[in-house]
Order: sequence, then structure tokens, then C-alpha cells
Amino acid sequence: MSANAEQHGVDSGSLPHTVAAALPQIEAYMATVVRLAGAPPALEQAMAYATLGGGKRLRPLLAWHACMASGGAGPESLPAGAAIELVHCFSLVHDDLPALDNDDLRRGRPTLHRQAGEAMAILAGDALLNHAFGLLADRLPPTLALATIRELADACSRMIAGQVLDTLGFEGDPDASEWDDAARLERIHRGKTGAMLVASVRMGAMSSGSAEPASLKALTGFAEAAGLMFQIVDDLLDVTQTSEHTGKRTGKDAEAGKLTYPGVFGVEASRRMVEEMRDTALRAVEPFGEEAEGLRQICRFLAVRTR
Ligand code: IPE
Ligand code: IPE
Ligand code: MG
Ligand code: MG
Ligand code: MG
Repeated sequence: MSANAEQHGVDSGSLPHTVAAALPQIEAYMATVVRLAGAPPALEQAMAYATLGGGKRLRPLLAWHACMASGGAGPESLPAGAAIELVHCFSLVHDDLPALDNDDLRRGRPTLHRQAGEAMAILAGDALLNHAFGLLADRLPPTLALATIRELADACSRMIAGQVLDTLGFEGDPDASEWDDAARLERIHRGKTGAMLVASVRMGAMSSGSAEPASLKALTGFAEAAGLMFQIVDDLLDVTQTSEHTGKRTGKDAEAGKLTYPGVFGVEASRRMVEEMRDTALRAVEPFGEEAEGLRQICRFLAVRTR
């Protein structure tokens, strides 16, 4: 356990037991929705490879615990959590493609394009994205389906826009000429990673059926801070961990000339920013009681995770 982890009573290796208790239900639900997608066998196999057997499931867990923080029991969040996870898995498959990050290793296994070829990886990504929206339409009551489809579409658009900036830079954006690296970096990270984490929390809260506007606003503030923190940690892991440990290639960001927090601010300053972001996120959910304890625990874990 790192000194930082010990100080906050969080094991950096794994999620707290009470939070992780939802994982078996999340895994089973993911397996079912992939099987029921109605894809032809080779496509279904590729979709299953990209979505099952690996991954921390942070987004469905955030949805589950945001649902609880809003007065729900947790399982009502499964359609929303699974839809977000499908979009997340699509984003990873495409992120790893040769034209983007060109990575061979994901979740401790060959990336999908290494396993099944580039054409199938592109198409399985397309199918996962599409299936996410179909899932919400099929499994939620109409008003909630429409609201969550809107949330997911917005988050996905912001994620893609963030990936464009991360991969191709700020060319053609007249506003960006005024921005320094720090401003650009925050823009990239809030887009490519933060937006989907914010959607996880919001869609989970909405799934409870009892989220008040004020609490949804507080939860959004929590998720914005935790989402930025999450990607700062991802950048840190790229420079501080081995591929064997994280299950994905490390040391790749600097090589690819990516704008990252440790690259711009250094490792120590980035670690301090992680702690500041964690505290900002925790402050946002101070008005909540015991019902938000799962979200607090996930947030503390995300600050000290090592993979
Ligand atoms: C990795 O996300 C990609 C980023 C958005 C930084 P996760 O670290 O949540 O990946 P999995 O789902 O656990 O593999
Ligand atoms: C990926 O960010 C974010 C998305 C997939 C949208 P990274 O490129 O940093 O993620 P890893 O490090 O490959 O998981
Ligand atoms: Mg990338
Ligand atoms: Mg990548
Ligand atoms: Mg990364």
C-alpha cells in the first residue's frame, strides 16, 4: 500500500469490499446484454472479447452508487451502467487502433485488433456503440430512456471531441491559440475521460427515479472533479507503473508526444493535483449522508489506484 493510500485507509490494490459487492451483478448483466445483442457469431465473439473478462467496471459501479446516493437500491442502475460500459469498451477498442494509440495490450490481453484484425475491431466498436443506445431504449421506461439516451449521446460526443484533440491536436480551433498547455490538457482530459464518468454518475442517479435537481447538481460536481482526477492518475500510471501491472502498455504517452499532467507539471505536482481533485470531489458530496458512502469510497480508491 502506498503512503498516500495508508493515510486514507484505502487499499490501492482493490476496491473496498462494500463497493465491489455489486460487481457480480454487473458482470452477469454485461454478459447477458452482449449475448442478447443479436449479432452474428463472429461479431458477437469480438464484442464479448472487448467487453467481458477484464476491466474495473468503474462506470457501472459509479452508476450503481450514484443511484444509491439518490435513494435507489442500486440494481435499477444496471441498464444505464451497462450502456455506459459498452460505450467505454467501444472507446477503448478504437483508442487502441493503429491510427490512434496503436496499442497491442489491453486489460492484460492482446487488443481486439491484434486478436481479430483491424476491420473487426472497427466494426465491433461500431456495434458496441450502437447497442448501448438500443439497450437504453429497450430496457428503461420511455421517459427515463429518453433522458439517459440524451445524457449518453452528449457524453459520447464530448469523449469523441476529446479524443480528436488528444490525437490530432487543436488545429483549426481559433480559441485554442490563446491557451497554454495546462488549459489544453484540462480540455482534453475533461472531454476524453471526464464526460463519460460524469454521465455514469448522472445516469445512475437518474435511474433511481428520485434524484432531485439540487442533488443531481452536487453529484455532477463530484463527478467532474473525480473524472479529471481519474485521467491525471491514468497519466501518472503511464509513467510510474509497468505494463505487467497495469495490463496495458506504459511509457507510451511521452513517446507518442501526448500532452499529459506529469509531462506538463511533473510527477510530484500531478500527485498533489490528484489529492486536491479528490478533496474537491468529496466536498461536493458533503451534504449527503451514509447513502453516498459508496461514491466516497470509489473516489478515495481512484486517487490511489495503481492500475
Ligand atoms: C482506461 O479506463 C481508459 C481511460 C479512460 C483512461 P479504465 O482505467 O477505466 O479501464 P478499464 O475499463 O478498467 O480497463
Ligand atoms: C483513452 O485515454 C480515453 C478513451 C478511450 C476515450 P488513454 O489513451 O490515455 O487511455 P489508455 O491509457 O490507452 O487506457
Ligand atoms: Mg488515447
Ligand atoms: Mg490509449
Ligand atoms: Mg492513458
